[in-house]
Amino acid sequence: MPGTDSSVPFIRVTGLKKSFGAQKTLQGVDLDICHGETLVLIGPSGEGKSVLLKHIIGLLHPDEGRVELDGVNLCSMTERQLLIARQRMGYLFQNAALFGSLTVAENVAFPLKEAGLRDQKQIADRVHEALDLVELSAHKDKMPVNLSGGMRKRAGIARAIVTRPECILYDEPTAGLDPVVTDVIDHMIQRMQKRFRVTSVVITHDMSSVFRIADRVVMLKNGVVSFNGTPGELRASPEPEIQNFIAGRSGLIA
Ligand SMILES: Nc1ncnc2c1ncn2[C@@H]1O[C@H](COP(=O)(O)OP(=O)(O)O)[C@@H](O)[C@H]1O
Ligand SMILES: [Mg+2]
Repeated sequence: MPGTDSSVPFIRVTGLKKSFGAQKTLQGVDLDICHGETLVLIGPSGEGKSVLLKHIIGLLHPDEGRVELDGVNLCSMTERQLLIARQRMGYLFQNAALFGSLTVAENVAFPLKEAGLRDQKQIADRVHEALDLVELSAHKDKMPVNLSGGMRKRAGIARAIVTRPECILYDEPTAGLDPVVTDVIDHMIQRMQKRFRVTSVVITHDMSSVFRIADRVVMLKNGVVSFNGTPGELRASPEPEIQNFIAGRSGLIA
């Protein structure tokens, strides 16, 4: 059965290169993501963290290199195989990207309908379950415009988990949120991991989140993986660049 062989990494990225025009964004990224781990991706803005995530779900195609899911290259998949592969992953977009004209519940139901589910009762049950997990059931009939920033992110998480994916990719789930709401979202990420043993990939700039949720931390810098280790190893790194990043220093002030 796919997804259960722990000897093969769930996701394997090798030699991934991607340019936009003259701009070389990813310049040879190598990364294994194991089943069930929470991997946190850090690094300066504009280094290609979101671009990397989009390759992992097959929204972008590499110029060179490959992304494998359970040992199968995404680029060699047929449209149908890619659709099935995508259904194994949930994706929280950087800005939550809810549909403004749909209610919270309709937004969350969307991926189920896209996956071909037609049974209204089944859809309602799954939406209820997802909203319950992110504690948004009471707000299911609201429009996105009437939600706070934290609620929007939680609605986005509900939409990402409603298909019960094996892997959830979170692109800056706590950006722009206050520390208490950030703590709530971090707990939700941990809850999904514990309850469903999902693999999680989280992009964040929030170092307190990193140390709270990460099993492993990967730093993307100059188009390659510049650090790959445990949170403890990150903290102990002798690299001034990493210490500056952890402390939120620009390195411009002596
Ligand atoms: N579809 C695209 N077309 C052109 N340039 C892009 C596209 N997507 C991302 N980029 C560029 O790639 C770089 C990395 O972007 P991104 O992955 O969003 O960075 P971040 O690490 O902050 O998530 C940026 O300079 C961005 O402008
Ligand atoms: Mg980004």
